[in-house]
Amino acid sequence: MPILFHPQSRTFHLFNDRLSYIFKVLPSGHLGQLYCGRALHDRPDFDRLFETAPRAMAACSFEADTAYSLEHIRQEYPVCGPGDVRLPALDACMPDGSRLLDLQYQGHTVAPGKPPIQGLPATYTEQPEEADTLTVTLADPLAGVTVRLFYTIFARLPALARHAEICCTAPIELDRAMSLCLDLPDSDYEMVELTGAWARERHLTTRPLAEGVQAVYSLRGHSSHQFNPFLALKRPDCGEMQGEVLGFSLVYSGNFLAQADVDPYHVTRVTMGIHPQNFCWKLDPGQTFATPEAVLVYSDRGLNGMSQTYHTLYRSRLARGRWRDAVRPVLVNNWEATYFDFNEEKLLSLAAGAKALGVELFVLDDGWFRNRSSDETGLGDWQVDTAKLPGGLKGFGEKLGALGLQFGLWIEPEMVSPGTRLWQDHPDWVLHQPGRRPLPSRHQYVLDLSNPAVGDYLYDRLAALLDGVPVSYIKWDMNRSISDAFSCAAGPDRQGQVLHRYILGVYRLYERLTARFPGILFESCASGGARFDPGMLYYAPQAWTSDDTDAVERLKIQYGTSLVYPVSSMGAHVAAVPNHQLGRVTSLTTRANVAFFGAFGYEMDLTRLPPRGRELVARQVAFFKQYRPLLQFGTFWRLQSPFTHNEAAWMTVSPGRDTALVGDYLILQQANAGYRRVRLAGLDPDRLYRVTPLGSGAEPCGPAYTAGGDELMQAGLVTTGDSRMQQDGDFVSRLYLLQAVTE
Ligand code: DGJ
Repeated sequence: MPILFHPQSRTFHLFNDRLSYIFKVLPSGHLGQLYCGRALHDRPDFDRLFETAPRAMAACSFEADTAYSLEHIRQEYPVCGPGDVRLPALDACMPDGSRLLDLQYQGHTVAPGKPPIQGLPATYTEQPEEADTLTVTLADPLAGVTVRLFYTIFARLPALARHAEICCTAPIELDRAMSLCLDLPDSDYEMVELTGAWARERHLTTRPLAEGVQAVYSLRGHSSHQFNPFLALKRPDCGEMQGEVLGFSLVYSGNFLAQADVDPYHVTRVTMGIHPQNFCWKLDPGQTFATPEAVLVYSDRGLNGMSQTYHTLYRSRLARGRWRDAVRPVLVNNWEATYFDFNEEKLLSLAAGAKALGVELFVLDDGWFRNRSSDETGLGDWQVDTAKLPGGLKGFGEKLGALGLQFGLWIEPEMVSPGTRLWQDHPDWVLHQPGRRPLPSRHQYVLDLSNPAVGDYLYDRLAALLDGVPVSYIKWDMNRSISDAFSCAAGPDRQGQVLHRYILGVYRLYERLTARFPGILFESCASGGARFDPGMLYYAPQAWTSDDTDAVERLKIQYGTSLVYPVSSMGAHVAAVPNHQLGRVTSLTTRANVAFFGAFGYEMDLTRLPPRGRELVARQVAFFKQYRPLLQFGTFWRLQSPFTHNEAAWMTVSPGRDTALVGDYLILQQANAGYRRVRLAGLDPDRLYRVTPLGSGAEPCGPAYTAGGDELMQAGLVTTGDSRMQQDGDFVSRLYLLQAVTE
């Protein structure tokens, strides 16, 4: 059992062989944080790690102890009231107007496995021995508030999942309810974030911690292009391969706050949860408010170590359903090939052309429903446009089936366009404040998913649409932020709940549709990657990574995304050149060599390629099918960062370490360049590997050779003298196949 409680010292020790998390019940009854990091041997107490010091002006818990101030004590779930004047984990307003809370330890339980969180996505166990869960109850009898803190430690991963549940005996107003708080004893860290904008999501950004608050957040109603619900604190000497880092990831798709607050004594408080802005939750007696889950990961094996823990956990114990462990079909999507300008004949010609090259699934993107010849109209009614598809979705799906292709369909359920039937019949279903004109974005408005009636309508409509249609994949899009967070269905005391209830409504709709259609592979999307977050992965095991399909930009986007998210979750397509976002021209080889490290597909009219291009695509598809279990489910290593180098490299290694694929990318050529080599990772140092460079259609090219795993990892894979890399101009790339051999 990796959760121990030492009654004498009242110390909790949650541990496995890679992580220890230690806290105790303090003399004042509050919870004090003692340690979070590499596994420690268990001891009856860790009281040496409890530090206090007399500090001027601090409010003290005991008259006789001038050093005992919660302002200067590291805690587990701090509140405003008992002397701590830093930003709290919980802030509530009680019936008498007071915000003073004093949460003291009442008791705890330890149980095998992990309980679900009602209505919210969360990591889970399949067998009780995979994890243990500690639940600590804190209460303030005067305020009538009880908080239960949940801690799940996974047996085989250095990962700890946390959330809190709050209830009360008199009505309260919750204004801040964080999922996690962690007080660390120093601030010698750099904060790693995933930042960006539309078409350049999840760029890796690092800054040294400084005194005060540093934060990432979203107030857009979705997790956003701008910041991902993630931050990491790494030691300054931590790199991809070595060093210590703590990762914090929020399993949530709405407004969030993730911040590090450094005090003048260099104590660092990390808090993560729903953003308190526009959040005000009236809680009545008998009700419980559950925060989303936050997942903390410790690595002493660098950023790659942290990422691999997230990949394993999120791929196997957050994603669910039939597609969780299944290789994903090679698809072709018509969006960049046609935009809104298509009819059935054109689509079937694209589909037949793709099928001839080995593609398995055709995705019909935006524009298949009535009044949708541009993005200005049509969302909401979900009636097929029979002028474009005379046989309806069923007829079109059957024609694809006759070609031997599966059928994928785009939807954007959360939105409505003006002028639609839905808009006319239910003006009150649009998020807006009566008397105030709601703001358009992409000419569309947001449906009030906080209102269960809206969710019910969408469920019925979409279920009716999909019933009997041979659809095996859904791309669920969401193309605007929420500006008018007011629900006509909610009273004045519930308006502060609308944004959270909206996301709960989205989750409920996903839950119902995925349960009704368990065979369908769902891909989430929000103008590319504006909702690429762990919450979505619970329902849709993959997401459209970015609307930017340029291979060079994708190097950064996929590199950054891989910090938290597994390769199997990243939709990655080969698109036409000149690229539609940038006008850049890259080779078909480089475009595929980047997209192979994802849920692979094409987003172009393959019939327009010259014969040589079609031949290459056919070879790429065949290659991908041969290696897709390795590409999608192997252990992924980032080797060289496109954020700091003119070259990027990554690789994936099979579980038995007998096969690996390396992707090596050179962004700009240099005349008379120096030697180049890439140090590999994850191989067996005691085995020999046959190294085969792969050519433009991923076929073997150039001389293969044999090298030791130790040599490839320590000395590196030498890429100098690879003639194609030197002569092909900019944006060149090479894959290397490594296969273990016996001498
Ligand atoms: C935004 C998505 O990211 C694109 O891939 C495409 O589906 C468009 N929406 C369609 O409107």
